[in-house]
Amino acid sequence: MSARTLLVLVSCALSVITGLVIARGGTGLTAARQRPLIGLSMDTLKEERWQEDRDLFTAKVKAAGADVMVQCANSDDAAQLQNVESLITQKVDALVIIPHNGVAMAKAVNLAHQAGIPVLSYDRLITGCDLDLYLTFDNVKVGELQAKFLTDRMPQNGRLRLIRIYGAKTDNNARLFKQGQDNILQPLIAAGKVEVVFEDWAEDWKPESAKKITNAAITKNGPNFDAILASNDGTAGGAIQALTEEGLAGKILVTGQDADLAACQRIAQGTQAMTVYKPIQSISTVLVELALKLAQRKPIVAKDSTSNGHTDVPSVLINIIPVTKENLRDTVVKDGFHKEAEVFQPTQP
Ligand code: GAL
Repeated sequence: MSARTLLVLVSCALSVITGLVIARGGTGLTAARQRPLIGLSMDTLKEERWQEDRDLFTAKVKAAGADVMVQCANSDDAAQLQNVESLITQKVDALVIIPHNGVAMAKAVNLAHQAGIPVLSYDRLITGCDLDLYLTFDNVKVGELQAKFLTDRMPQNGRLRLIRIYGAKTDNNARLFKQGQDNILQPLIAAGKVEVVFEDWAEDWKPESAKKITNAAITKNGPNFDAILASNDGTAGGAIQALTEEGLAGKILVTGQDADLAACQRIAQGTQAMTVYKPIQSISTVLVELALKLAQRKPIVAKDSTSNGHTDVPSVLINIIPVTKENLRDTVVKDGFHKEAEVFQPTQP
């Protein structure tokens, strides 16, 4: 049997691309096992959202009558490859990978395919390989919402001075967030209405790295900027620490993403201006459904497709919601993502 375990049919109808992932090669379940076994290989558990992702996925897979094995690589490519190899050895029926490095993990996909195991790339795309399925939030839109939030709040002099903090260079999403931000910013930069006074990439999305970038920007320009376009809540937190040390917290608009509890608390207190809420509850339900279908070699219909440089990967994109002080209660609290008392009355350190 070919290394590729799945046949992907892509047909175009108007502007909508319909991808159908059809299983081939047996039932997918190992003969000795009654319940499907799904392998989950994670880059990191550093950000709160990934802990939430893991917990929801694990609980929902079990509730669906299947089993799951989780491995975390702590931002190490060699470790993540080993993790995948070990999941392959355990004969998982399907693999879900959240890559640390989207390029490096192509090798893991190839190894899984050699063992007849289909792979779903979750949240972050694995590039340069015959990936079977991609489930993610609308990442370009995340970047657009972040930038739009700031450009909608132009200073009175009609000129917005920005520090831009991008995510990890190894993460394809970081590029998509930047792309979305650029979609909004470029015309305004060209018109002289937005000026980027400093920009850099935060290594592995580390808050410490974002703090250093903000410190460097302040050393270079002084406090002459209006906003920090931070690409996620972790980097926003690092930037806000630097602002606090300079007495600037609350005076500078700071964006984020993930609706981490600490970020929602900062929004309630006024030191962070916005975040983007990714409904992890809903996506985890879809993730379990797709992973189980892959494990059982059942057909999957995916409305979108994403080029990963090698193939058009059938994709499922989930929408996201911008969150500010005004709608904290109507979004993350209402959804049960965070408790109102935690968001609005945080315990002081
Ligand atoms: C991105 C992800 C974000 C954020 C970041 C840091 O790929 O889409 O939600 O968590 O990684 O881990």
